Amino acid sequence: MIKLGVNVDHIATIRQARQGVEPDPVQAAVLAELAGADGITIHLREDRRHINDRDVRVIKEVARTKLNLEMAATDEMVKIALSTKPDQATLVPEKRQELTTEGGLDCVGLMSALQTVVNLLQGGEIEVSLFIDPDLEQVKAASRLRADGVEIHTGSYANAWPDGDWADELDKIRNACNYAAKLKLKVYAGHGLNYRNIKPLLAIKDISEVNIGHSIIARASLVGISRAVGEMKSLLG
Ligand code: PXP
Repeated sequence: MIKLGVNVDHIATIRQARQGVEPDPVQAAVLAELAGADGITIHLREDRRHINDRDVRVIKEVARTKLNLEMAATDEMVKIALSTKPDQATLVPEKRQELTTEGGLDCVGLMSALQTVVNLLQGGEIEVSLFIDPDLEQVKAASRLRADGVEIHTGSYANAWPDGDWADELDKIRNACNYAAKLKLKVYAGHGLNYRNIKPLLAIKDISEVNIGHSIIARASLVGISRAVGEMKSLLG
């Protein structure tokens, strides 16, 4: 069975809309684990637009499953990772203006800079995963970097769903996952996955874990509305 890492960044996005204390991504992480999540993923962005330094520290303390910290390969983030010690760090490219992570990391072009970061994190006993496009050259480069695993970017597949050439995109993902598994990398996948487009992905046996954020938090906000409204109505008598 494919494991599920739940990304709780969007809970922090709602909190930041009022710059207050609720909803708390720490509580969301605990509830996700109680519901069966196999891991918690958070992205500490350079601009702290959602998850902040306190969230990373507290989630690390309370999480009982696997904590996966998504981060840019910068000195600041390496320092934070080495002091917080998540179970895994996923290196992602980061641009200030983007709404979400747009593309995979260029492991081919950034080989020597990434090697330093991979070595530092692994030296701190943090597993390193590289978020890459489903491209065989990138998989090969991730293996040369001696990463522990790769997360294959499923964004193009998700964008092509259901009316575009998603089957071609799925083939690219399958080939990349297969090659990564042959190179003894752990194989993860994520970005844009939802309750519908997840199904064809289940046929790719090399994937051990998916990371899903937006669709789970979006659904939670809707399936929780009746209860939240009911509770307020009963307070009003
Ligand atoms: N994996 C990575 C590396 C990501 O950057 C993100 C988005 O933060 C996700 C998975 C989750 O994507 P989504 O929110 O679209 O499910």
